[in-house]
Formats: sequence, structure tokens, C-alpha cells
Amino acid sequence: MCGIVGVLGDHEVAPILVEALKRLEYRGYDSAGIATVNAGRLDRRRAVGKLVNLSDLLVHDPLAGKSGIGHTRWATHGAPSIANAHPHRARRVAVVHNGIIENFRALRDELVAQGAGFESDTDTETVAHLAQVFLDQGLAPREAAERTLERLEGAFALLFLFEGEDDLMIAARKGSPLAVGHGEGEMFVGSDAIALAPLTHRITYLEEGDRAIVTRAGAQFFDDQGRPVNREIRTIEIDATRVEKGGYKHFMAKEIAEQPSVMGDALRHYISESGEIVLPGGGIDFTRVSRLTMVACGTAYLACMTAKYWIEQLAGLPVDVDIASEFRYREPPIPEGTLAVFVSQSGETADTLAALRYCADKAQRIVSVVNVPESSIARESDLALPILAGAEISVASTKGFTCQLAVLALVALEAARQRGTLDAPTLARHIEDLRSMPGRLNAALATEPRTEAIARLLSEATDVLFLGRGAMYPLALEGALKLKEISYIHAEGYASGELKHGPIALVDNTVPVIVLAPHDRLFDKTVSNMQEVMARGGKVLLVTDARGAAEAGEGVWQCLAMPEVPELFAPILYALPAQMLAYHTAVAKGTDVDQPRNLAKSVTVE
Ligand code: M6R
Repeated sequence: MCGIVGVLGDHEVAPILVEALKRLEYRGYDSAGIATVNAGRLDRRRAVGKLVNLSDLLVHDPLAGKSGIGHTRWATHGAPSIANAHPHRARRVAVVHNGIIENFRALRDELVAQGAGFESDTDTETVAHLAQVFLDQGLAPREAAERTLERLEGAFALLFLFEGEDDLMIAARKGSPLAVGHGEGEMFVGSDAIALAPLTHRITYLEEGDRAIVTRAGAQFFDDQGRPVNREIRTIEIDATRVEKGGYKHFMAKEIAEQPSVMGDALRHYISESGEIVLPGGGIDFTRVSRLTMVACGTAYLACMTAKYWIEQLAGLPVDVDIASEFRYREPPIPEGTLAVFVSQSGETADTLAALRYCADKAQRIVSVVNVPESSIARESDLALPILAGAEISVASTKGFTCQLAVLALVALEAARQRGTLDAPTLARHIEDLRSMPGRLNAALATEPRTEAIARLLSEATDVLFLGRGAMYPLALEGALKLKEISYIHAEGYASGELKHGPIALVDNTVPVIVLAPHDRLFDKTVSNMQEVMARGGKVLLVTDARGAAEAGEGVWQCLAMPEVPELFAPILYALPAQMLAYHTAVAKGTDVDQPRNLAKSVTVE
């Protein structure tokens, strides 16, 4: 969380910094700020709330200079306020930071004792004051930054800018991602390549522990011991149009609508014309795998939960699914023959990355399923399987989820093929079914007007329950997560058979219960659970197909009919009504759909 950017340019940088911050706003939007050096003089502007407030401020109170740094904040230490907004500065140095300085209290006490005057409640301000102490001791900026970094514990991506230094930025990475962009007589630094995309496609990613001394002539890289290191310049192609709303009111609406097309891209990438699954990089030898450990957070975790049903059922492989923040500190044993799989849209989620490193330390082969191919998780994996969803900007993950499911379904089918647990005709049928999903998703999108009408009713509720059975259970959790995340309505998902073990006490005629139930082999069981809800006055929204609606649609509060879908892949299709319901409920409530309160897209702190 928090986006940082830096520019050593050949013309005024304030507008360039603001444009780059726009592309990083998905990382946080509690406040934003920039600092520049102009004719040697360091100055800054900061504003609370969205970036637009900073843009407005700069109209009335511009900031000149061709060298600058910028920040968009997701608050960790200290409420959103001007004082807590980055850049933080001491006299001759300004810093922007993504991460958490864990020993900041001890450092702050030490600095206060030496006479430093703190303005903010943040951990970051200690970094600026510490650097100032070393500058006051007569150290040059580079040494002062180095000595400062030696004192810091925790995770950070940091950028330093110094008074009197028009041609210098110092960047450092420990735990949080950072990229250096190479221009012609200009240099850039950003939290990711998307921020720098219109400025340059020539990117160097800092490795863990790296520092970069950046001037307009280029960047020198050093490892955490201060030894010079070579870091590759890669050419990264990012389609800037994928970062635009393209006529939609919200990114979320655009990303929901894109699902048939991006899933088609992903399936074509992994399935040859003759219908064989082709995993990159030599694939995975499933004959040597005896169990899978899948680790992720949030929606990606729910994709893993869904994949567990597929992999266990199709390939006969036991699967453990873990929340990354729990996995990393539980220190679980990893038995021989375990394949560790990490799923992340951003590829930067701090807990998932830490869990990956835990497994890598145990000499595990690391497989990841990621959307951002240049992300830390992708780069630290032995095999990264891209989901090819394109840039996902809305905080609520939609196309990321369904593309994760598509790739994980292919992994399950490939495991089954290698292990001989599916005969060839059945395997070929499943692959064909998967290939048919983009068309089916289009048909599901066509139900949007009806979903929107139901969502208007849902927006009156204060509590909503989602029920699902089998592989629809993780989707019930996902439906609830999506709804609460953007509409702020309290929502819970339950396995439908579990309801009578407690949660049914919540049911009354004010609580909509959304039952996700394609007409599959578990349909009758789910319908029985639905009847139990209706018998207690619960108002049921049944999301099913034409057969399900004909059999059980009578007497329910609302019925939403989805197109037919092969049973195995129903979770992919039923994700769409869950997303559309959440989206239109949020729109009806007037919330900030793409940037819901308290959240950020990329969770790079633990
Ligand atoms: O980038 P990741 O897939 O690792 O992110 C994991 C979660 O933070 C993310 O899925 C989050 O739960 C979404 N906002 C849900 O819509």
C-alpha cells in the first residue's frame, strides 16, 4: 500500500508526478503529496483525501522544479491528515515511503532526545530526521541515506530527495517493490511499472535489499552490503488503454464486462489449438507431487478454496488452503512431495510474499498464479503462471478472480492428465467446456438489467447472507466479501449445510439470503437448506439456472436465472452475478465503488 514515485526530469515535474500518482492511486487514497527541488530549494505540497485534492491545491499553490518525489497514502501510522501526509521532511531532506518502519518508536525517542521536532504520528518521519542527523554530521547525501537505512527495521520502499541536489534521488527497497525507469536524460522511480508506463518502458526492478543512486545520467545499484551490483534493464510493454475506464462509469464495471474477452485470452494462452494444456517453463511434474499447499489472501484465497474442490476431485491430490497471514507465522511443516502454490492478482501482497519466502527457504519449488508478470511474487517463483487478466484497477477484484479460477482449473486438469485420474475423452470434454466459458460469461452478463433491479432492493438491507454448497461455498464467501467491500453492507457467506449449526439464528424477514445453486448434483440438498430459511420467514434470492428456477423458484423472494453451465465450472460463471449484485448495490448506495473506504488495491504491509 502507498504508491511512491520520483522524477529527475528535463521540464517541470509537478504535473508528471501527479499523473504518475494517478496510476498508483489504487494503492491508497488517504492523502497525497509531492516535494521538489527547485534551484536547490526543497519544498512540498500535501493534501488530505483523493489525489484530486492535491491537483486542486497545486492550481492555487504551484510547485516548481524539475526534480521531485510523490506519494499516495494508505494510512498505517496516524490518521489521514496533512501532517501525516508524505513527503515527510526534516530540514534538508524529504522522503516518501511504502511499508512500515517497525523500530520507529525507539528511533523517534532517540531523535527527540537529540532535539528533533516531529510534526506527524507516522513511522516515516523518523527516516527524514535520521537522515538529517547524518547530514548534520557532515555526511554527503549518499552516505547519510546509507547510514539511515542501516538503522531501519521493517519493510520499506523509500525515496530520498535532498535540498541543494537537483540531480539526485536515492531509492531503497526492503520488502516493498520498487522500479527504476530509464529515460533519455531523465530518470524515474515508481512503486510499479504501470506508474512509469507513459514515461518509459525501460525498467529495472530493485532486488530485495537494493539501493539505487539515481541521477539524470542513469542509476547505480548496490546490494544491502553496499556492493555495486548489475541489475538488468527490461523492456516492459504495458497497454495504457487497459488503465482507462473506456466509457464505463467505474473501473469495476469495465472489469466485470471484460471477463469474457480476458478469459478467452488466458485460455488461448494455455490451451493449444489441438486442445492440449500447455503450461509454460516446463510445467509441473504432478507425478512427483503428493499434496498441494495453496496460500493467498482475500479473493485470491477464495480462488484457492475453489481450486481445492477441482484438484481433489479431478486429480485425487489432497490440497491444503491457507490464509497467507496465518500460514507465515504458523510455520507449518512442509512434507516431502508438497507443491507450494501462491495466488495473487497484484503479486505484491506482503503476507503472500512472506509465505512464499518461507517455502522457498525450505527449498520448495515455488509455483505462483499471478496477474502482474513483473511482480515480486512472479519474479521469486520457480514457475509463474500468468492469468492474463490485464490491469485490474478497481479495488474489488473481479476479472482477476475469474481468470485465477480459469488457470487453476487448467492446473487441476493437467494434474489429472498426468496422474491418469481422468480418461482422455473426459479430459477433452472438460477442456472444451472450459473453452466455452467466455461465451457463457457473455450470456451471464446479459442478465445485468435484472441483477441491477434486484440490487436496488438489496441496497435497503443492513445484513445479507450468501449460501453455497460444494464449490459454490467459496463463491458464497466471495459474494459476501464483494458486497461488504464496496457497499459496506454487512454480509457473510456460509456453506449451506452449516447454516443450521448456528447462523440460521440470524434469519428473519429483513435479512436477504442469497442462495447460489446451479441445478447440479447437490441442488436438492441446497434447496432443502433454502426451504429451512424460508420456513423461518427468510427472504431468499435464488441464483440458479432455468431448470433450478422451474423446480424451486416458486415462492422465493427473487429468482435470478443464469445460463446453463457445465457443473464443474459453475463457480466461474456464478461469480458474475455475485459481482454484478455487489456493484449495482454499491452504485445504488452511492459508495465510492472503485476506491472503497479504508481499502487499497495492493496490500504491501502486513
Ligand atoms: O493482489 P492479491 O490477489 O494478492 O490481493 C489479495 C486481496 O487483498 C484481494 O483479493 C482483496 O481481497 C480484494 N480487494 C477483494 O476484492
